[in-house]
Amino acid sequence: MSTLIVSPGPLVGRIPVPADKSITHRSLLFGAIAQGVSRIRNHLDSGDCRATLAVVRELGVQVDEPAAGELIVHGRGLRGLQEPEDVLNCVNSGTTARLAAGLLAGQPFHSVITGSAQLRRRPMKRIVEPLRRMGADIAGREDGRYLPLSIRGRPLSAIDYEMPVASAQVKSCLLLAGLYAQGLTVVREPGPARDHTERMLAAMGADITRIGSAITIEPPKAPLQPLDITIPGDFSSAAFLLAAGACIPGSHLTIINVGVNPTRRGLLDALIEMGADITLDNWSESAGEPTGDLHIRPSRLRGATFGGTDIVTMIDELPILAVIATQAEGETVVKDAAELRVKETDRIATTVEELRKLGADIEARSDGFVVHGPTRLQGARVHSHGDHRLAMALAIAGLMAEGATAVEDANCIADSFPGFAQTLLRLGATIES
Ligand code: S3P
Repeated sequence: MSTLIVSPGPLVGRIPVPADKSITHRSLLFGAIAQGVSRIRNHLDSGDCRATLAVVRELGVQVDEPAAGELIVHGRGLRGLQEPEDVLNCVNSGTTARLAAGLLAGQPFHSVITGSAQLRRRPMKRIVEPLRRMGADIAGREDGRYLPLSIRGRPLSAIDYEMPVASAQVKSCLLLAGLYAQGLTVVREPGPARDHTERMLAAMGADITRIGSAITIEPPKAPLQPLDITIPGDFSSAAFLLAAGACIPGSHLTIINVGVNPTRRGLLDALIEMGADITLDNWSESAGEPTGDLHIRPSRLRGATFGGTDIVTMIDELPILAVIATQAEGETVVKDAAELRVKETDRIATTVEELRKLGADIEARSDGFVVHGPTRLQGARVHSHGDHRLAMALAIAGLMAEGATAVEDANCIADSFPGFAQTLLRLGATIES
C-alpha cells in the first residue's frame, strides 16, 4: 500500500487528463452488444475500467488492444453474449456491477456478479427491486441488498419507473434491461444524472428518447451500430487540478480536451459561483459529448450553498469541493447529498474525518457538510480509506497545506486516474511515493 508525500506548491502548465471513466465503461459494455467491430480511442486504462473489460471478455466478447490507448471490441449483437464460465468480478467498480446487472437480466443464461469487499458493502437493492419488477430472477445476499448477485436471465417486460434517487447507474441499468424487455420502458429521474448512456445508445441507433425528465427505450428493431469514438478527458479527474488552480497562489493551468457535458460539470458552475477565475474555450465534440479546454488561475473565493437536484451533476466532486471550501471566505454548505454516504466510502464521514486532520473547519451533516474558511491547512498524515477520490482530494489539500502531507493507501488512485502523481510532478509539484 503506497503513501504519497505531498509538499506545498503551485501547479503550472498545460496538460490533458485521462479519459472519461463513465464513457469508457459504456463503450465497452455497449460495444459488446453492437453488431460489428467498435473502435475506441483514448479509453481509460484504470482499475475500474479493467474490471469492465474483464467482464465483457468473460461474456465471450473479443476485445483487442492493437496499440496503447486503443481498443477494438468485436460486438456480438444483442443476442450474442455467452454464459460466463466464472463469476464476474467487478472489483471496486459500482458502474460495472450495476450496468452489467441490467444487461444480464434479460439474457438466456445464468451469471453471478461480485466484487471487492468495498463493493460488496454498496447498495444493490436500488437496481434489484426495479429489475425484479421487470420480471428478472435475481438472488443475492440479504435478498439482493448486496453483491454477490445471481442472475438467471429470462424474458423481461417493460416498466414505468420513477427513480427514488438521481443515479446514472440505476438509470443505465434499467435502460439496458429495457433493450431486452417487451414494451416501452420508461425511467423517470428526479435530477439530471449523467446522460452518457442516452447519448451513446442513441448514436448506436437505439429507440431511446427523452421527454422532460423521462427517458423511454424499446427493444431495437435493427441491430445496434458499432462505435467509432475518441473518448474525451474526464471532468471528474480535471476537477482535482481545477481545485489546485483555483486555490494555490502562483498556479496557472490549462487542462485540454475535457468532457464538459452539462450533466457532469456542476463543479465548474460551483467554482464560478464561488468567484473562480475560470474560462472554457476551444469547444468541440467527441464521442457525442461536448469538450473544451479549461483555463484557471487563483482568485479570491467566497463560500456558497449547494443543494437540490443539481447536486447530482457534481456528486463525485464533493470531496474536492470540500477542499476548495477550506480556502473560500465564509461558509460553504453542501446539502441534499446523502448519496455520498454510499459511494466507495461514506464520503461525508471520511472527507470530514481526514480534512480535520489537516486543520479544516468542517462539520458533517446527515446529507452533506458545512465548511468555514479560509483556513491555513497544516500538513499531516491522512488516510484514503481505499477511496480514489478522497485520496486525490487529500493530495491536492496537501499542495495547499503548510509542511508535508502523507496520503496513506494511495494505490486506489489508479481506479480512476492512473498517473495522477506523475501529472502533478509534470505541473511542478513536489511529490514522492
Ligand atoms: C456513474 C454514476 C455515479 C457516479 C459514478 C459513476 C456512472 O454513480 O458517482 O462515479 O458512470 O454512471 P450513481 O449513479 O450511483 O450516482
